[in-house]
Amino acid sequence: MEARKALVLGGTGLTGSLLVQELLAHPGYEKITCYVRKPSGLSHPKLVEQVVKLDSHQGLTEADDVFCCLGATIKTVKTREAFQLVDLHAPLHIAKLQLAAGSQRFLVVSAAGANENSSVFYNRVKGKLEKGLKGLGYPLLVILQPSFILGQRKESRPLEKLGLTVAQWLSPLLISRFKKYIPVQAAAIAKALVHYAWNSRNGVYTIPSDRIKAWEQPATSLDQGN
Ligand SMILES: NC(=O)c1ccc[n+]([C@@H]2O[C@H](COP(=O)([O-])OP(=O)(O)OC[C@H]3O[C@@H](n4cnc5c(N)ncnc54)[C@H](OP(=O)(O)O)[C@@H]3O)[C@@H](O)[C@H]2O)c1
Repeated sequence: MEARKALVLGGTGLTGSLLVQELLAHPGYEKITCYVRKPSGLSHPKLVEQVVKLDSHQGLTEADDVFCCLGATIKTVKTREAFQLVDLHAPLHIAKLQLAAGSQRFLVVSAAGANENSSVFYNRVKGKLEKGLKGLGYPLLVILQPSFILGQRKESRPLEKLGLTVAQWLSPLLISRFKKYIPVQAAAIAKALVHYAWNSRNGVYTIPSDRIKAWEQPATSLDQGN
């Protein structure tokens, strides 16, 4: 198996921290660099944490695969501008730098409903990010579009919790074109990200929530290709 290096953005979040665990355990990765705001306290021989200010960062990291699990909430950052800084400008900025650094693959956690023309601000920002990334020309770009993300969070998000309860209740009814709104475990997203990094031909792939959800099932039923 080839030895790859990975760069992770948002590796301290719910999805990102599970992704980092997957990458550290994966025999194909020899080094995992995480750009963080503050050190996570995690220590591992393959892990390098670099404290950076994402939007103004100019350094290049040797990485074959770049994973982006970055994300803010309006509640925490307060303004739309600050939200876009984290969810749009910073990922695009680092993606451009890393393309110049020779990174081959960019895998990003976007969201179900992402659409640059959406009347919903959050979906519009995610859509703009997807469009911007598609314009960069990475040999492989994988966009995961989860609906609600399930998992143990450090902080409480009451509105998200309410939406989640409704979505979980509706889950069995989410068929046909609504399947893409099925809630999904953060752990499944982390596994899917690594899977697509290793099992995709070059190109651009958009993976909806119901396809990500397959990663919550036993490994034997998962390998459906792209
Ligand atoms: N939550 C959902 O139900 C849901 C649904 C669909 C899509 N998504 C999207 O999926 C992605 C992952 O979601 P998640 O819930 O796993 O994320 P999360 O737990 O909220 O983690 C977000 C990550 O982004 C980092 N971050 C936030 N603001 C930052 C800033 N100003 N500068 C640097 N880093 C910053 C956080 O760092 P710190 O640890 O330092 O805060 C953390 O590593 C996000 O893009 C999100 O929008 C989420």
